[in-house]
Amino acid sequence: MAHAHDPRSVLITGASSGIGAALAEAYAQPGVRLFLSGRDAARLDEVRARCAAAEVEVRVLDVADAKAMAQWIAEADSTAPLDLVIANAGISGGTAGAGEGEDQVRRIFAVNLDGVLNTLWPVIPAMRARKSGQLAIVSSVAGFRGMPGAPAYSASKAAVLAYGDALRGELHADGIRVSVVCPGYVVSRMTDANDFPMPFFMTAEKAAGIIKAGLSAGRARIAFPWPMRLIMTSFALLPACLRVWLFSRLPKKG
Ligand SMILES: NC(=O)c1ccc[n+]([C@@H]2O[C@H](COP(=O)([O-])OP(=O)(O)OC[C@H]3O[C@@H](n4cnc5c(N)ncnc54)[C@H](OP(=O)(O)O)[C@@H]3O)[C@@H](O)[C@H]2O)c1
Repeated sequence: MAHAHDPRSVLITGASSGIGAALAEAYAQPGVRLFLSGRDAARLDEVRARCAAAEVEVRVLDVADAKAMAQWIAEADSTAPLDLVIANAGISGGTAGAGEGEDQVRRIFAVNLDGVLNTLWPVIPAMRARKSGQLAIVSSVAGFRGMPGAPAYSASKAAVLAYGDALRGELHADGIRVSVVCPGYVVSRMTDANDFPMPFFMTAEKAAGIIKAGLSAGRARIAFPWPMRLIMTSFALLPACLRVWLFSRLPKKG
């Protein structure tokens, strides 16, 4: 059973797999209404079945489609005023070989940056009017600095990280809490594509537990696991020449 202070109405993008699906399951309790989206209808249906303890509505849509997102979020908010919105959908891309092509770079920004804005903007006016609500942005420890192995990915994650930090200050007076989530390596379809060792690899269920606890505490930044946070924070402090030299030698996604 949900506790009195737990969110009752939760919207999650990218809920059809990985971290988003695990978060949906973590919030799926009696008395909770879940609004879940992704592009794959079959996978979304599987997640809906696993969340049967809650009332679940799924929607197949692309986060890069601003108009469809605004419509979906307005509908969800009028069905059950949203307490928590998690902008989780994201993509990465391979950079091994010839590096990133323009199409890949633009698509990563469209999903990871515009997709986050398309998720947050439609609900902010309603939360402002209610003087309550919580927004969570899924960034990454890869957003602490520009990573030569994933330029567009790390830049898109750095952008939403800084945006979330700033929004937290901007929306504080409106009673809206904002958290930025920075996971290390988590088991998902995204990391299935990596054929190199991933330090401190953790399950999506464990990651969802950490994120849920962090959101419940209203933490500004939920970066985990701690050894990965420490490593990436330290790397980010290195002088550029050393950092770029070091990062350029790390394995790249195929
Ligand atoms: N796994 C990690 O190690 C890790 C580390 C740090 C940060 N993250 C971040 O965590 C978030 C979740 O990723 P994940 O690891 O769980 O990977 P995943 O298993 O690939 O899940 C990504 C989710 O985003 C959805 N999605 C992708 N593009 C979309 C689009 N254009 N419109 C709507 N939904 C879209 C996918 O659904 P469909 O395929 O059905 O569209 C899927 O549900 C991402 O933002 C990722 O950058 C992951």
